[in-house]
This record gives sequence, structure tokens and C-alpha cells, in this order.
Amino acid sequence: MERLQKVIANSGICSRRKAEELILAGKVTVNGQVVTTLGTKVSDKDIVEVDGIKLMSEEKEYYLLNKPRGIVTTTSDDKNRKTVIDLIATKKRIYPIGRLDYDTTGVLLLTNDGEFANMIMHPKNEIDKVYMAKVEGILTGEAIYQLEHGIIVDNIKMVASKVKIKKVDSKTNHSFVEITIHEGKNHQVKKMFEAVGYHVEKLKREKIAFLTTKGLNSGEYRKLSNKEISKLYVLASKK
Ligand code: URA
Repeated sequence: MERLQKVIANSGICSRRKAEELILAGKVTVNGQVVTTLGTKVSDKDIVEVDGIKLMSEEKEYYLLNKPRGIVTTTSDDKNRKTVIDLIATKKRIYPIGRLDYDTTGVLLLTNDGEFANMIMHPKNEIDKVYMAKVEGILTGEAIYQLEHGIIVDNIKMVASKVKIKKVDSKTNHSFVEITIHEGKNHQVKKMFEAVGYHVEKLKREKIAFLTTKGLNSGEYRKLSNKEISKLYVLASKK
């Protein structure tokens, strides 16, 4: 079940805000009945009409982008900066699944399929998001223990499912740490390291589940295959 304004927007005919206006103006019917309540939930089986025209559900698209540094992960930016959407040649209303910071690089998925986006993001599905963090200082065993057993950040418990030191550069005093999480809270990795006393200087998302940036230069993207999409659903269903 999804909110009516989202279903209308996802069909590609207008923005969510415009969809809300249409609903409030009494131009939208669900199974023949006028609905003027924002947030009414509808399913795939409900027939939604706008101005008497039946909505066709938009063809779904799924992309994997190797996000470069210096790009925002939103659909539009009030400062007019380039967004990840500008990098992808499509007419569909796609959006990023979760966020990578302006200076974070690596695997970013984009789609116009809300169900798929929820499946990837919901922590209960335990889809691995694997990051490589270059942190200032030499990470201690105690810090790893804390990251893996949960720390409270902004009143929320955040846990890494795995933390592995990949390399230590004692000359420049840096550690290269692979950290796996299942959630995607804002600035989560950076905040988790800050909470145990380390500053993240560079961050790359190396993987979402089995998906990597292999074969993609920075800024390049490709479509996910049907096989990859099914495999992700299978992984989620096992949790
Ligand atoms: N965690 C962060 O701190 N930043 C990102 O971009 C992604 C995860």
C-alpha cells in the first residue's frame, strides 16, 4: 500500500506536490470514488484516475551509479548544484535509494520503484552496505568492539555488523577500515567513527550486497539486470 500522492507522482504524470493539489481539488478518484484526503493508501489493485484518465503504472528502472565526489544525492538542490539525477539519462522520475554525502563516492542505487527502494533500505532485510573509510589515527581493538556492539549517536543505537582494518599507515597515522552496516541514517558512518574518537577523511561505499562499482569509472552508471534484482529480493527474503 502506498500513499495516493506518491502513486500519482510515481506514474510520471506530475510531481508529488502537484498530485496533492489534484487530490485536494477533487480531481482524483480511487475505484470510481472521489478522494480528497491526502495520504489515502492505495494498492496496485486499486484503479486510480486523474481527471478521468486511468493511471498507467510507470515502467520501472533500476540503476547503479559510481557516485563521484562533489555531487549531491537528492532529486533537486536549492543551491542549484549538480545532483546524481543529472548524471543519468532517463525521462523517468527516478530517485536515489538512501543518501551518500557530497564528498562520499561509490555505489549508489537509483530507481522509480518504491517497493524495491524500501526493500534495500529496511534494516530488517539486512542488506549489507559496505564502506571503506580512511580515518585519522590508528583504530584500536576497543573502538572496533564498540562499533560492532553498538554506540548511541543522536539518541539512536547504531551498530556495525562487521569492522575490519584493511591497512594501517603508521607514517601518516591513518587506518583504512572496511565497515558494514545495514541501515542508512544520515552521515551514519562518519558519526559512528566520531563517536569512538576518529575522524573520517575519505569515504567510499564499495558494495551494496554483491553490487560493486566494477567496470564503472567515477560518474558512470549501468542498469541492474533482472537477475540482480531478483537476487536482491531473494537475499532480503532470507532475513
Ligand atoms: N555514512 C556517512 O557518514 N556518509 C555517507 O555518505 C554514507 C554513510
